[in-house]
Amino acid sequence: MRYINKILTIEKIRVQDIAKKFGTPVYCYSYKQLKENISNFKKNFNSFSPLICFAVKSNTNVSIIKEIRKLGLGADVVSMGELMVALKAGIKPKKIVFSGVGKTAAEINYAIDKKILLINAESKSEIIEIERIAKSKNKIVDIGIRLNPNTDAKTLKQISTGKKENKFGVDEKTFFKLVNYSKNSKSIDLKCLSVHIGSQILDHKPYEKMLDVVDKIVKKSNYRFDFIDLGGGMGISYENNKKKLNYKKYNIAIKRFLKNHTSKIIFEPGRSIVGNIGSLISKVIYIKENNKKDFIILDAAMNDLMRPALYGANHKTLPAFKTNQISQKTYDFVGPICESTDKFTTLKKFQKLKEKDLIIMCDVGAYGMSLSSNYNVRPKPIEILIKGSKINIIKQRQKLKDLI
Ligand code: LLP
Repeated sequence: MRYINKILTIEKIRVQDIAKKFGTPVYCYSYKQLKENISNFKKNFNSFSPLICFAVKSNTNVSIIKEIRKLGLGADVVSMGELMVALKAGIKPKKIVFSGVGKTAAEINYAIDKKILLINAESKSEIIEIERIAKSKNKIVDIGIRLNPNTDAKTLKQISTGKKENKFGVDEKTFFKLVNYSKNSKSIDLKCLSVHIGSQILDHKPYEKMLDVVDKIVKKSNYRFDFIDLGGGMGISYENNKKKLNYKKYNIAIKRFLKNHTSKIIFEPGRSIVGNIGSLISKVIYIKENNKKDFIILDAAMNDLMRPALYGANHKTLPAFKTNQISQKTYDFVGPICESTDKFTTLKKFQKLKEKDLIIMCDVGAYGMSLSSNYNVRPKPIEILIKGSKINIIKQRQKLKDLI
């Protein structure tokens, strides 16, 4: 995405042309960026060729996942719906792992029938349930056990998952018990230890700590895991010049770990694969002048992009045309929804805006559309993918008649 003669373009296509053709709000994705992200991700860890399972929750668009599959990735899913999406996108079952704390019997049944690589269990009850269903089908099912390593990921508390107070995984003591339990089962085959300590992690140290814990626990359990699933969580920089995750150091720590273990590494990245491929283009409906700040009322709202309302997340916000006029007033970029948290950002010294101007929110490819809702009976936006000279509609805008 860049300005050419003051006009914002995505892969050289003018944002204004996209808005004119498809209306607003519109989610727009770049294939080129997706390809680059995947290639970089692979390069970062190429010495041990991990199985990279894209975390479908971050972007559930089947067309995007098809492209991800063609670029060699598998999938990490957390529901029957996500598993169906991954299969529809053509991902081979043997490249799919199923995570999540509350898989229902129906979901476990479906996963077993589809012969996916691993069901990563998160409690004793779940293991017993998998075992019961496997037995009823006369099958042996490959499972993982998710360990809660009690490691602080140093990220937002809402997206932290690896501390003992979080609901995810099992503690060390329970882990050993479950390893023993699984060893003696005739219907389950324990193949994997999985961890995932959180999301939007920018510091490599929590990963190092997590690996130390995993190293100790694997040694102590005296069990050979075919797979060690390290989850995802690699952060991206949402703002210019912000800290970046040091992949080199993470890679070194994993290589150090692999000196003592022969398991295959699995990753479950979401944001690092799709975060920066998406932009949300919206239009200013009204400008409401206020004493100290003006409200820039957009046609996109928190139902289209929840991250700011849910986590106080900040997405870089850009105008479609650059002018040289700076506003003296502070701007509050808000949506039309009846909630005070329906606010995207507050910016000082933004360029002077007028009604009908186009505003672009950047880096919304992960947890943008996938977290969207129909709150206030608002249809979800259209999604388009720019690939080479082609622009493909990859999800139509919802129609009110389908919602009502
Ligand atoms: N694996 C598991 C088991 C997960 O729970 C998650 C994310 C991932 C992988 C992928 O993590 P990533 O590489 O995308 O960080 N909605 C929040 C993020 C929630 C993440 C939930 N789990 C956000 O918008 O920031």
